[in-house]
Amino acid sequence: MKKEMGVLSAVFPMPVLIVAAYDENGTVQAMNAAWGNQCQEDAVALFIDKDHATTKAIRKTKAFSVSLADLPNIEAADYFGIVSGNSVPEKFALSGLHAEKSRFVNAPVIAEFPVTMECELAEIVETPHMYAIVGTIKNVSAEESVLGTGGKIDPGKLRALIFDPFGHAYYETGPLAGKAWGSGKEMAKTVREKSRKSV
Ligand SMILES: Cc1cc2nc3c(=O)[nH]c(=O)nc-3n(C[C@H](O)[C@H](O)[C@H](O)COP(=O)(O)O)c2cc1C
Repeated sequence: MKKEMGVLSAVFPMPVLIVAAYDENGTVQAMNAAWGNQCQEDAVALFIDKDHATTKAIRKTKAFSVSLADLPNIEAADYFGIVSGNSVPEKFALSGLHAEKSRFVNAPVIAEFPVTMECELAEIVETPHMYAIVGTIKNVSAEESVLGTGGKIDPGKLRALIFDPFGHAYYETGPLAGKAWGSGKEMAKTVREKSRKSV
């Protein structure tokens, strides 16, 4: 029996992304963003408020980085979502984390997070229902410790955080559950056979 829950944010899991950019003074601005996703193979879309210090920095320098927050850095990740660079311009430096300029774009890469996408601002999409910052990925940097077979990023080693919109909480990613384009193969085969027979 399903219960009507009304209107609520029910997309789950959501990522915990740390977006970082240099502001006009060259100071690192960084924020936590759960409303963001891959929108093309080489592009990400972030649904971030116009007035955030990080958004203003992105608009100025036209570049940003997006890191995957992980369990060892949960405190800093959440802090980036609580304090604003609008009131504490040295927010990033005071976190004790470290950043270096990307070799690919004019944006900081935060050292402590294991995976970072280095992006150029591609476009800002503004409609009555959406304000999206879209970035083209120019490089992805990853700590060797999170690489697995074939040099690929191994989610099993990442300890990436997941945002829970229902309880405003963080989860850690869990074990492998199946293979994409694999777990449904048998069902797809059976259905194709049945549909061929019924023609
Ligand atoms: C878990 C979490 C997720 C968040 N996701 C977003 C988001 O997707 N978009 C957004 O505009 N703000 C989001 N925020 C709020 C910003 O991170 C927060 O307002 C931050 O202080 C903005 O920093 P800034 O002004 O220094 O850029 C989130 C906060 C938390 C704690």
